[in-house]
Amino acid sequence: MIRGIKGVKDTLPDEMPRWQVIEGAARRFSHLYGFREIRVPVFEMTELFARSIGTSTDIVEKEMYTFQDRDGSSLTLRPEATAGVVRAYIEHNLAASPTAQKFYYLGPMFRHERPQAGRLRQFHQYGVESFGSASPQADVEVISLLWRFLSSLGLPGLTLELNSLGEAGDRPAYKTVLVAFLKPLEDKLCQNCRRRIETNPLRVLDCKVPACKAATEAAPKLTDHLSSFAREHFEAVRATLDGLRIPYLLNPRLVRGLDYYTLTTFEVTTTHLGAQNAVGAGGRYDGLVEVLGGPKTPAVGFAVGIERVSLMLPEGSLPAAPKTVFVAGFGPQGLEAGVRLLDELRFLGVPADTDFRASSLKTLLRQADRLQATYCAILGDDEVAKGTLILRHMQTKEQQVIPLGKAASSIASLFLKPQ
Ligand code: HAM
Repeated sequence: MIRGIKGVKDTLPDEMPRWQVIEGAARRFSHLYGFREIRVPVFEMTELFARSIGTSTDIVEKEMYTFQDRDGSSLTLRPEATAGVVRAYIEHNLAASPTAQKFYYLGPMFRHERPQAGRLRQFHQYGVESFGSASPQADVEVISLLWRFLSSLGLPGLTLELNSLGEAGDRPAYKTVLVAFLKPLEDKLCQNCRRRIETNPLRVLDCKVPACKAATEAAPKLTDHLSSFAREHFEAVRATLDGLRIPYLLNPRLVRGLDYYTLTTFEVTTTHLGAQNAVGAGGRYDGLVEVLGGPKTPAVGFAVGIERVSLMLPEGSLPAAPKTVFVAGFGPQGLEAGVRLLDELRFLGVPADTDFRASSLKTLLRQADRLQATYCAILGDDEVAKGTLILRHMQTKEQQVIPLGKAASSIASLFLKPQ
């Protein structure tokens, strides 16, 4: 048999209620905050990701699914959606709109990472992107949406970590200071980090290897090298978060794995996911629209990993199973009347099911039980002859006889009452 691909998961029906709760909350919260849905393609020109995420990031260097199209152009399955949303924003001239443009998306992303619990090669994100405002309050709006959304799901052990990467202009001076600090420590760093000193020194601060963490404990902090503009922006973000009583922890090592960030970056971590502790993350990216050929446009956003949220979702956040009717029609007339009843119930909006493989009342009742139906409508040839059916409450085992002619509407009326 042909198996699925490593790190690429099926989500089976038993797991779907968790996803529906998460995606439902994502849509609800996005609308509450004035974000509208956008869908962008799952594949784009490779160049789009290389230019936005950065050529010396892990994602672009070794995690992208890139392939050649028939005309020879290089295409890539999206490793994230910010780049595609920015491309669409530019291509459809959305910057010309007089109102701020705020979008949200849900969908699959692709990264060739080593699969483990909470880390997949095809995973799903809920993300938002807010274009047009450089105000620190726009950062806070996005952070508060992320925090309120995750909190509403009752996820345990969440911490919001916050940092500022300064303006693009603050980076070169800091990089010089950081490289000077890292060079003498080279021997103590992992092989990746040794390479990163040259290619992307900030990423050394984000390395998860314990030896690297220990060696860089006293590294100079980017937040000590911010321009006065960046410092004021960061202070305003913090003051506004304080005003909204959103708790956060400053983490000067939070540099993020994508190069487009400026000023505020943030990540929500959890103590409940082992090594893959980031539930959602994001930041401001004021230079990206321009880098990709659009007008200078400030922007800020985040993305959440749905699989990670699903792993952490407490049972209490799941809704009770919906009420359903199982129609047990047996015998030639009973079966025929059962098919009509199913159609009428469904027409009236009552979730109704049966099992056409079962032909005896005993097996039909067993299937009703397995499907955890609330009611079973028992309908044999005898009932049809009498013009009635028996409605059985599957849990209490209480039964009532109801006239067949009014069966669908009387059952439907039971569904209007609370369970
Ligand atoms: P990111 O930090 O690369 O940011 O991903 C965001 C979230 O996606 C992570 O916190 C994690 O929950 C989930 N995630 C990432 N990789 C995997 C994986 N291999 N398996 C399962 N889940 C994963 C971004 O993608 C940015 N586009 C966020 C953003 C939006 N920044 C501004 N706007």
